[in-house]
Amino acid sequence: MTILVTGGAGFIGANFIYYELKAHPEDRIVCIDKLTYAGNLETLQEALKHPSFRFEKIDICDRKAVFALFEEERPDVVVNFAAESHVDRSIEDPGIFLTTNILGTQVLMDASRAYPVKRYHQVSTDEVYGDLPLDRPDLFFTEETPIKTSSPYSSSKAGADLLVNAYHRTFGLPTTISRCSNNYGPYQFPEKLIPLMISNARADKPLPVYGEGLNVRDWLYVEDHCRAIDLILRKGKVGEVYNIGGHNEMKNIDIVRIICAALHKPESLITHVTDRKGHDMRYAIDPTKIHEELGWLPETKFKDGIQKTIVWYLEHKDWWERIVSGEYRNYFEKMYGERLQSARN
Ligand code: NAD
Ligand code: DAU
Repeated sequence: MTILVTGGAGFIGANFIYYELKAHPEDRIVCIDKLTYAGNLETLQEALKHPSFRFEKIDICDRKAVFALFEEERPDVVVNFAAESHVDRSIEDPGIFLTTNILGTQVLMDASRAYPVKRYHQVSTDEVYGDLPLDRPDLFFTEETPIKTSSPYSSSKAGADLLVNAYHRTFGLPTTISRCSNNYGPYQFPEKLIPLMISNARADKPLPVYGEGLNVRDWLYVEDHCRAIDLILRKGKVGEVYNIGGHNEMKNIDIVRIICAALHKPESLITHVTDRKGHDMRYAIDPTKIHEELGWLPETKFKDGIQKTIVWYLEHKDWWERIVSGEYRNYFEKMYGERLQSARN
């Protein structure tokens, strides 16, 4: 089958593409990505060599380009990772979050109706449930937890989820939604907590911890997320929502301390800075449904996953240094510039 992956030049989308190419070499993968600041085509270097992989630089909000791609490829399955994904940026400038995350989702679903797909899968987030108090460790997000968002980012993701459910009920679009907790692993853009702390610590720069660093996130190794999405696509029930998480709650400050210890850096690099506005206190997923219905369980323990991740960043210094310097943005031009020019002539 042909799987259309949007946002595949970003962190989770790229990991998903590599997962699928390995787990299902019989399938064709078509990736579209706008290559925003968070999209790095260099990440897909190996995939680009694969005969059953195609990349197109397309904005999911560009209805004409998206419909033309659907007309040509007739995908069986759509997996929508494309999004503005960083909470801090959504606090600075909410507009693009609403455009990409909500209107982009609408364009993809309209195309999925016009060129009927077997499945439209929306990659959502646990942040749509808001947050949980620190003093109630007995509480977890289930699929029944009401939507109650805190940031423009989470609100835009929740808006998209509501629209997905509406397209399922009103138009019969065969949809599924997954809501995952915080991911970590290779290829994560170094603006997010774990890669930022690794790259700063490596360079002996301050490690900016928001507030006291007591906020709790439920960390999942990215490959476990990819495997869960793959299972939902192949065995999940249309119209359903699946929460994905591994019962791995950690305080931010503890994560930063682990990174300092692993890199043999002093904790004196830790610098407490002004807290994020509206900062969610605790996320914690109850993954019972995906476990009982689809047999999914996380495979990577945090102590192994964080070790693998730190080693990956140490061994791929060029990858994140080119991001930090901005040089990675020339990669598309280098790869495609000439070809695009000759196509235009
Ligand atoms: P990311 O920011 O690393 O990647 C996003 C990708 O989407 C980039 O390649 C970017 O170029 C692309 N993109 C942005 N706007 C686009 C547009 N208009 N058209 C086409 N492409 C566009 O994000 P990520 O961390 O990989 O997250 C992927 C998805 O997973 C998002 O939908 C996010 O909400 C969700 N999610 C992320 C996490 C996490 O911990 N990172 C957890 C749960 C859910
Ligand atoms: O829960 C899933 C969500 O996880 C995804 O939907 C988002 O796309 C993803 O970015 C992530 O959101 P968070 O806001 O939890 O991730 P972030 O890495 O930005 O921050 C993790 C925690 O660390 C959060 O409590 C804020 C804190 N933090 C973050 C940064 C970047 C710091 O203390 N200092 C920092 O410099």
